[in-house]
Amino acid sequence: MADITTLKDWRFSIDEQQIAWAIFDREGESQNALGRRPLEELMAIVERVEAGARDRSIAGLAILSGKEKGFIVGADVREFEQFTTAAEVTEAISPVLAMLNRIEKMPVPVVCGIHGFCLGGGLELALACHYRIATRDDSTRVGFPEVRLGIFPGFNGTARSIRQAGALAAMPVMLSGSMVRASAARAMGLIDELVASPANLAWSASKAITQKRRSKPVGGWRNLARQWPVRNLLVSKMRAETAKKVRADHYPAPFRLIDLFEQHGGNLDAMKAAETRAFAPLMVSDTSRNLRRVFKLSEMLKAQAPKDIAFKPMRVHVIGAGVMGADIAGWCVAQGMEVTLQDLSADAIAKGIAAQSKLFGRRFRTKALRDAAKARLIADPNGDGISRADVVIEAIVERVEVKQNLFKSLEGKLKLGAVMATNTSSIMIEDIAAALADPGRLIGIHFFNPVAQMPLVEIIRGRQSREDDVRKGCAFVTAIDKFPLIVKSNPGFLVNRVLAPYMMSAMQRLERGEPPELLDEAARTFGMPMGPIELADTIGLDVCAHVGRILGLDGAGSRLERLVAAGKLGKKSGEGFYTWKDGKPVKAEKPYDKGLLERLGRELVEPLIAECEKCRDEGIVDSADLVDAGVIFGTGFAPFRGGPLHYRATSDPSAAAGRQAAE
Ligand code: NAI
Repeated sequence: MADITTLKDWRFSIDEQQIAWAIFDREGESQNALGRRPLEELMAIVERVEAGARDRSIAGLAILSGKEKGFIVGADVREFEQFTTAAEVTEAISPVLAMLNRIEKMPVPVVCGIHGFCLGGGLELALACHYRIATRDDSTRVGFPEVRLGIFPGFNGTARSIRQAGALAAMPVMLSGSMVRASAARAMGLIDELVASPANLAWSASKAITQKRRSKPVGGWRNLARQWPVRNLLVSKMRAETAKKVRADHYPAPFRLIDLFEQHGGNLDAMKAAETRAFAPLMVSDTSRNLRRVFKLSEMLKAQAPKDIAFKPMRVHVIGAGVMGADIAGWCVAQGMEVTLQDLSADAIAKGIAAQSKLFGRRFRTKALRDAAKARLIADPNGDGISRADVVIEAIVERVEVKQNLFKSLEGKLKLGAVMATNTSSIMIEDIAAALADPGRLIGIHFFNPVAQMPLVEIIRGRQSREDDVRKGCAFVTAIDKFPLIVKSNPGFLVNRVLAPYMMSAMQRLERGEPPELLDEAARTFGMPMGPIELADTIGLDVCAHVGRILGLDGAGSRLERLVAAGKLGKKSGEGFYTWKDGKPVKAEKPYDKGLLERLGRELVEPLIAECEKCRDEGIVDSADLVDAGVIFGTGFAPFRGGPLHYRATSDPSAAAGRQAAE
């Protein structure tokens, strides 16, 4: 048990109104996560407050965060790795559950004040308190991201969130892992009171304590959803909705949560008890382990951005307002930057700008914010923005001499220290740079299509690129909320290089008579977001053929080449390997044997994995983990498998052991 007088992660005090203040300010960390020590210290606080309540020296407890941004981001994911069995998980959780019950039963009011993220275990702690106050600030979000880590709330948040918000509101929050704004959380019943700013939290908390305010569980029709037969209807609907998004064999957690609600939703005490029994096996499952690994890989990618350089990009100039350039410009604007957009004609620019209204509509909720975004996206036919920009990105036609000429004309105009980048997907950075007076300045910043949906951006380090500029490229990509991955210049960089042999070999199978539907379903059974044939049609068969040629994958005389020659380019032309209707491929749905799909799925990804191994051995990126990170975030490679190289090492232990011996 921690000593209340020597707390490290909490500050504890009692004021003259006899209100106890527990301020969570985890030592040495920028954010608060609930790990073993903070929880032990909180236990000491709980005991102290219980004693104070007994002898009437404490009138209430207020729980706040000492961090400038954020309440609690969740349980400490780093500590999850210590568990190898479900029994260990249960043993570790039970004192936390007991402590939360003691908070709930505290004879004096317990109020928590929330500003910024209040997620996972943080929200579960908040739900055990008697009253919840949050700032109306845009940064305040509550939610249960657990399903993204292959689990669901395990500190009795399942039952408590349903008690407060009703199953109709609480279950979708847990099933989707989405984050809810403070005002919406207030409407649901997860939050009781809103205040304007963090400065108001302490005052409102002390008022709530002196007035003994207590949140009421949801009542009326919103509570009906827990009762039979409404519960059964809701359960069927949730199962169907969830199955549309994920497969139960790949991502079991949401399905187990629905089972839990189905069995115990009518009795929340029983639900609390059953929660741990369902939660513990998920925590030690391969899926959860691998999803935690994906989370750590994302952190690793973010860490590629240097912290030691004073490069704060605010202005971006994009040249080329086509498919990529316009969307890159729109994305940067949506992230708060000011962007000038250049193309050969005013029409092309106007079209590119108009195409961004969808993104702004999704991103900004008020007209004022949307108007502000539109004002930050500036048509710039003459390139006036070049000399002011912190980052200049070229996304024009894919021809080396055209790009060379453009960069030659740019070189002298850029301001000192600005990043100069090409979005080329197939030309060597060195070849473009060869025409420049200062070739060291050019780097690649390679976005993926569709820009708004793809989390990864490759930063291409040409042999001539200056390291400082590469690092600035990473800083820029992080500033626009994408994951940067530094990749050594080579044909196809990383993502296209590993995708190409995978797709080409699937096309060869097609050529040999295997149905496209079977190939696509097998890849999806493995866990790919889309099968290779549908992916080829979606990317465009002309682009696939071009990439194949660049990478030396001979497609002469192939069905791919024949389709391209006939102008059948896939989704964009309405026909490719599939016929496309209303943006969807027309597929002959046949029930295939599960064993066949699984075996074929594993075979299909073999060429991709083999290419990943080559990239690792050639040092295309700095480590095997970075290969996995790039391929997961650049292709959507089955996240629950933890990445291609990790999958290879864990699914084929003999091969992994052999390789290790060789190393
Ligand atoms: P696009 O053909 O849609 O757009 C190119 C635009 O550049 C056109 O609007 C054209 O008018 C303009 N342009 C051509 N020369 C220009 C010049 N000298 N000055 C100003 N504007 C000029 O092409 P897309 O697909 O957007 O590709 C652009 C670049 O991005 C290429 O290098 C391509 O390899 C790369 N890329 C494309 C991806 C894709 O999926 N389309 C994915 C990743 C990279």
